[in-house]
Amino acid sequence: MNTPPALVVALDFPEENQALNLARKLRGVVPWVKVGLELYLASGRQFVQHLKKMGFSVFLDLKFMDIPNTVQAATAQVTAMGVDMLTIHALGGRAMCEAALTGRAQAHEAGTTPPLILGVTLLTSLGPADLAWQPRGTAESLHKLTLDLAASAQKWKLDGVVCSGREVCDIRNTCGASFQLLTPGIRLPDAACGDQARVCTPAQAARDGSNFLVVGRPITRAENPVQAAEEYLRDMA
Ligand code: C5P
Repeated sequence: MNTPPALVVALDFPEENQALNLARKLRGVVPWVKVGLELYLASGRQFVQHLKKMGFSVFLDLKFMDIPNTVQAATAQVTAMGVDMLTIHALGGRAMCEAALTGRAQAHEAGTTPPLILGVTLLTSLGPADLAWQPRGTAESLHKLTLDLAASAQKWKLDGVVCSGREVCDIRNTCGASFQLLTPGIRLPDAACGDQARVCTPAQAARDGSNFLVVGRPITRAENPVQAAEEYLRDMA
């Protein structure tokens, strides 16, 4: 049987105070929080470190994609902040992914656990019509490209990838048990999907072998976020 995945709540808020209010409620209930571009730009490095002091594992989801030298330096900065997981785009290619690993090694403090570096495969918001370099793209070619990117990320020694629930099973079969898979677009069977097109239930993603499930609005916008988080935790267990 698979080890149950960890629940990561996406603190998608425009202001630090809103994120802090929710984090206070979720402390002790949820192990991980995600800080994305919006909150990071609003609140910055000190808030990330505050979340760490509150006892959360922190996933800083800034999805780096730039020339290798820049990504190396950015990854070193994030590593020095003491976060537990970060993202880069696998589409940035081999040299960029390897540069991120170098940046982590440069900044990692001896005796601490270095952050996991995950590669974003294809954004789950992309559809066949969005593949400008492949004008007659199909759902199958998108799926294949995602699997190819995951295999490349593994070859380049990233710790894992971000993928939709639809790809978890195939990537797990191709990349083996220790490759870390993080899955957004998670919804309980009766929940509203919002703008997420490729959703998956916590139970299904857990069965297929995902390691981290990212849930945002179903928890952040719930009347009782703690109760909502507990429902997701029950389903994935
Ligand atoms: O509110 P919801 O549960 O849809 O939030 C999902 C979170 O996962 C958001 O923070 C979103 O940015 C993130 N995400 C995603 N799809 C990806 C990568 C990240 O939905 N491919």
